[in-house]
Amino acid sequence: MEFQPEVLISEEELALRVKALGNAITSDFENEEVLIICILKGAFMFCSDLMKEINLPTRLDFMQLSSYGDGMKSSGSVKIDLDISESIKDKNVIVVEDIVDSGLTMKTLLELLQARGPKAVKIASLLFKPSKNIHKVPIDYLGFEIEDKFVIGYGLDYAGRYRELPYVGVVNAGN
Ligand code: IMP
Ligand code: MG
Repeated sequence: MEFQPEVLISEEELALRVKALGNAITSDFENEEVLIICILKGAFMFCSDLMKEINLPTRLDFMQLSSYGDGMKSSGSVKIDLDISESIKDKNVIVVEDIVDSGLTMKTLLELLQARGPKAVKIASLLFKPSKNIHKVPIDYLGFEIEDKFVIGYGLDYAGRYRELPYVGVVNAGN
């Protein structure tokens, strides 16, 4: 590793919060089946930990969206690189995302999913950066609100790297 990231949210804090979110989802859906849509690639680690804390009949599918290039700034448009393979008509859908920043990705996705006639669509996001938020989307299950810093780890990347870190860290310019 080229630099030592600063720990923003520790492994222990993540585990506690993810457990609480899983419990909330479990009690909100009361034995109904839910379809989890994991947004690749950033949400893969959060999603796998969250699913272990949800005590409901679940199905899992994946979508990949891109709004960021290889840098730290949003490109301003959202592209669907991979779509789910099954219908969501009349299903309870929980979109699992790593971070809501400007909100463009989630807003675009929410509109697209709602047009497909689900019973309900909820959003679970590990992180939220309020300072950059332009497109208002309701985050039903939020892990942590964070400052306007570029974060890595626990699935989140910088130019494809550092997803494997077990904590959420901050990239400090200059080290
Ligand atoms: P939005 O469309 O501006 O809300 O951007 C959301 C997407 O940008 C997320 O799904 C992430 O892939 C990426 N992103 C935003 N902020 C960060 C960050 O601090 N670290 C890593 N990825 C980020
Ligand atoms: Mg993402």
